[in-house]
Amino acid sequence: MAIQKVGVVGCGLMGSGIAQTAAQSGFDTLVTEVSQPLLDRGMQRIQGAWATMQSKGKLTAEQVAANQVRLRSTLDLNDFADRDIVIEVIIEQKEPKLALFRQLDAITPPATLLVSNTSSLPITEMAAVTKRRDKVAGLHFFNPVPVMKLVEIVRTVETSDATVAALRQFTETMGKTPIIAKDTAGFVVNFLLIPYLLSAIRMYEQGVASMEDIDAAMQLGTNYPMGPFTLTDYVGLDTTLYAAEVIYAEHPEPAYAPPALLRRMVTLGRLGRKTGQGFYDYTDK
Ligand code: CAA
Repeated sequence: MAIQKVGVVGCGLMGSGIAQTAAQSGFDTLVTEVSQPLLDRGMQRIQGAWATMQSKGKLTAEQVAANQVRLRSTLDLNDFADRDIVIEVIIEQKEPKLALFRQLDAITPPATLLVSNTSSLPITEMAAVTKRRDKVAGLHFFNPVPVMKLVEIVRTVETSDATVAALRQFTETMGKTPIIAKDTAGFVVNFLLIPYLLSAIRMYEQGVASMEDIDAAMQLGTNYPMGPFTLTDYVGLDTTLYAAEVIYAEHPEPAYAPPALLRRMVTLGRLGRKTGQGFYDYTDK
């Protein structure tokens, strides 16, 4: 089944990036949020991104206008009844996600693919609350979505080959490179990335080097685009902590244990760029 009509539930940083990329790639895209102000903020982010792309000569005015026609928003989940795929990009908590999958299973026709952008929660549990387990998968994008080439397609033991094939085609049309991973904590990227970020925090806690020097070491010594503290601020300290907790629960080994400093920073609301302060201060920028 070729995907044409795309639904995106959640229009935060990741959801708006996915909706933007889907509309830009020619898909009829419908996006929703829990409130009008949040929906407006997400839609403004997308319009801002297109304006920037136009000013850089990456999009013509005609292309921007065509994208705008392809992207619509609604506050009514019932409008998702005609979608070929619905991508869940809501708050990273299990209960709201399970409730949404139950709702989407009731609203959409049985052929609609239901996928989650979760970075840590088990896809299997979302599949289990639906009557279409073969059509449920993970579709994990990376931040910033319009730029990052990778998408992890996460399959449970019941995700069908036809679903994986449709998702592969869909993500390739979006200009992404998909990889396939089993439904295990952290999938591929976070299972490798999170212990690296946690090790950097522990290294700093132990006084081996300053945050700036650890960042410079990894950026200049390995050509990573960002050092681990800059990247953790970029991803969000809460997201990093949450992913670490999920991976640690499945693999209770010291490398995956969240460091005390990370917990304390999250407790203080220093979540990274999004709150203006994380390991570094962004309030002036
Ligand atoms: N939206 C759209 N475009 C963006 C963007 C955004 N949010 N951020 C940057 N860009 C574009 C810029 O416009 C620029 O385009 P041009 O070259 O055409 O002008 C290009 O990307 C490069 O950006 P910059 O020149 O501003 O800066 P940069 O070269 O330092 O790149 C970066 C910025 C792409 C974010 C780069 O630093 C990077 O790749 N960082 C690592 C990001 C990463 O690892 N992400 C994964 C995090 S893990 C995750 O997301 C999963 C999870 O579950 C936790």
